[in-house]
Amino acid sequence: MKLKAFAKLNLSLRVFARRPDGYHDLESVMQSVSLYDVITLEPIDSGIAVACDDPNVPTGKENLVYKAAELFRKSKIENRESKMGVRIHIEKHIPMAAGLAGGSADAAAVLYGLDQMQNAACRIRNEGLLSLGAQIGSDVPFCLTGGTCLVQGRGEIVDKQEPWPRTYFILVCPDIHVSTKWAYDEFDRLHIEAPDGIKNDLEPVVVEKHEEIADIKEKLVKLGCVEAQMSGSGPSVFGVCRHQSDARKILLEIKARYPRSFLIETVDKGIELVGIS
Ligand code: C5P
Repeated sequence: MKLKAFAKLNLSLRVFARRPDGYHDLESVMQSVSLYDVITLEPIDSGIAVACDDPNVPTGKENLVYKAAELFRKSKIENRESKMGVRIHIEKHIPMAAGLAGGSADAAAVLYGLDQMQNAACRIRNEGLLSLGAQIGSDVPFCLTGGTCLVQGRGEIVDKQEPWPRTYFILVCPDIHVSTKWAYDEFDRLHIEAPDGIKNDLEPVVVEKHEEIADIKEKLVKLGCVEAQMSGSGPSVFGVCRHQSDARKILLEIKARYPRSFLIETVDKGIELVGIS
């Protein structure tokens, strides 16, 4: 079985207080976009085997797809033959640790795909998959839902919205490493209030250390984007384009300086089944 696992952007991200469980309550409009990994699932006799075309991706238990497969196998559904093993292959296109939920998208696709591989009577379906997803990572419930969603709680409350009008974005992924945990810890430590026009509360905190993110935003606006923002905990920045033709020109210019730049657009789902074999 082959599935596309789409990346997400945070069109907005408001962060509130830290909760007793260590996570922050948040309110975010998340949007699936046309950049995707391809996940292939193949039944095997036993165990979980993970492989990826990118040697930088870990293939052990630390990979979220491994966690997803393990949790799925442990979930108890009456009459299900859950002992089936699975080989998971990841064709990686979504930059890692970039604020694009690449790992979460892959995990969501594995949960969805494994459920589809069960007999119809033994599937967990939506609610069950969402609660398994929330145990893997805060962005997984969104990735299972996809499209345009208002996301709350620590990420587990996902309300699908009317689809966002078709929009083209230029996505720039600079070579900066930002840990999500670090960004949230800094948010608590620095207490920087996002100025007017900044829709992501983590942005001022991350820019404080990595000024380059502000430079990229400025560059995108100078090149013709209507606005530019950081996604999630960064370091990815996306610029909103009025027309696809503008976007093509901006991409050519920005790629010369930032090779990991992409022209992407809104999509209305988080996962797409592209083949059953
Ligand atoms: O859930 P996930 O593994 O993606 O979260 C990574 C880290 O980001 C958490 O350990 C936590 O420090 C921070 N986080 C948070 N509040 C959220 C989501 C993530 O504090 N709502």
